[in-house]
Amino acid sequence: MTTTIRGGQLARLLGQWHSLPGRHRSPDYAALAGAVRGLLSDGRLPLGVRMPAERELAESLGISRTTVSAAYRALRESDHLTSRRGAGSWTTLPSGHRVATSGLWAAGDDLDMIDLGVAASGAPLELVPAARAAADDLPRYLGTAGYHPTGLVELREAVAELYTGRGVTTSPEQILITAGTQQALDLVVRLCVPPGSPVLVEAPTYPNALAALSSRRARINTHGIDPAFGWDGEMLLGALRQTKPRLTYVIPEFHNPTGHLMAADLRERLVATAHSAGTELVVDESFVDLALDVDEMPPPVAVFDRHSRVVSIGGMSKAYWGGLRIGWVRASAPLVQRLAAIRVGVDLASPVLEQLVAVRLLRQSSQIVAARRAQLRDRRAALIAALGEHLPEWTFAMPPGGLTLWAELDGPISSALARAAEDVGVRLAPGPRFGLDGTMERFLRLPFTLAPDDLAEAVRRIASVRHDLDRGARPEWRTPSVIA
Ligand SMILES: Cc1ncc(COP(=O)(O)O)c(C=O)c1O
Repeated sequence: MTTTIRGGQLARLLGQWHSLPGRHRSPDYAALAGAVRGLLSDGRLPLGVRMPAERELAESLGISRTTVSAAYRALRESDHLTSRRGAGSWTTLPSGHRVATSGLWAAGDDLDMIDLGVAASGAPLELVPAARAAADDLPRYLGTAGYHPTGLVELREAVAELYTGRGVTTSPEQILITAGTQQALDLVVRLCVPPGSPVLVEAPTYPNALAALSSRRARINTHGIDPAFGWDGEMLLGALRQTKPRLTYVIPEFHNPTGHLMAADLRERLVATAHSAGTELVVDESFVDLALDVDEMPPPVAVFDRHSRVVSIGGMSKAYWGGLRIGWVRASAPLVQRLAAIRVGVDLASPVLEQLVAVRLLRQSSQIVAARRAQLRDRRAALIAALGEHLPEWTFAMPPGGLTLWAELDGPISSALARAAEDVGVRLAPGPRFGLDGTMERFLRLPFTLAPDDLAEAVRRIASVRHDLDRGARPEWRTPSVIA
């Protein structure tokens, strides 16, 4: 089925296309064509979408029809558009090129590329010994069929203990083990969000959460997070009361991408307001272990939950290793059963061996998490030092934890910079990936998960292309090499 994008929708996605750097050196039609290619390259404009008629787009953008005609012609010449007389024009890509289908910019095969598109660390040293030990645990399960739709009891117990240790009493029956936090979110969305229902998310937010919600055709409303100060309580609670979303998704601990930590009193008010607005409150705790300069962590959001409104999701990808694909849901026991029932339509259960590795790692959690925090503090310092030296005009709030820094740039250049940075071997996730409507061109998420030398080198390279953008050099169109 072909979908159509209307002129107004495309204009919103295009955002500030007319003021991208280097723009003064290229005619309007070329800038417009370049901006459409940019949207296609990062998946915000899907393939096979019918583009608006030239006249409609011209009206929406407030430019002449001749300019739109010339841009469409340029897009046809570069194989980004196919037109048939009387039937319209569809988005395409030159053969052999691939496009992002989700918000995830996966690590590429190109080892020379410094990948700042992914906010995740390499595995801890303890992983290989834990995997060997887990293989020795395996015989206990080999006589069974190996399908455990809610997860191995010993892992559910270990995760329940983590919550109880954080102050929210939890039994193993309240835990569902999933293939990462992403699957946890997807299952909750499948269960709780009928197609077309309103949902509320932060802006900016984690791109793959947007992907999960979009795939259920949710109507996504946003609550803006201030880059410097984080959540505005009155605005957030007001948005909840007004939009009465079916589901609200928040990242209260070291929010991705801004790094903010939600205060305890807002957590409490959020749960109460969610209850009166009749919304499921999905709390993504992916980064909860990664406090870097926090004296005392606020209580988990679930502490304030008296009406089973809160569904907490989390996992081991950030403090341990993403390659384990271990995540979980903490919810009421009946909800866990319902989630497990719909899970069988997706995959039947998580792999036994990985769950046994997870149990082994969680037994050493204090040592592994302490080492991870120390590593991240060093890396955050290295990134900040490099930014101070090479890009002092960029500003940011110091993230008290997590893996990322949300930099405000010196102009609406994020997508242009990301395209130019690919040419010098740095992969970036530009600001608009973290929003819905092509805004946030002034922002860039910078993870501090790589080694200090790589971070310093990446910032040097970014600074050099930033300088070129100022001199009017426009990045050539280039398809990202590996996108998942
Ligand atoms: C906020 C947030 N939620 C979920 C995920 C997905 O994590 P997992 O690897 O556990 O599926 C990420 C990964 O970056 C994330 O940042």
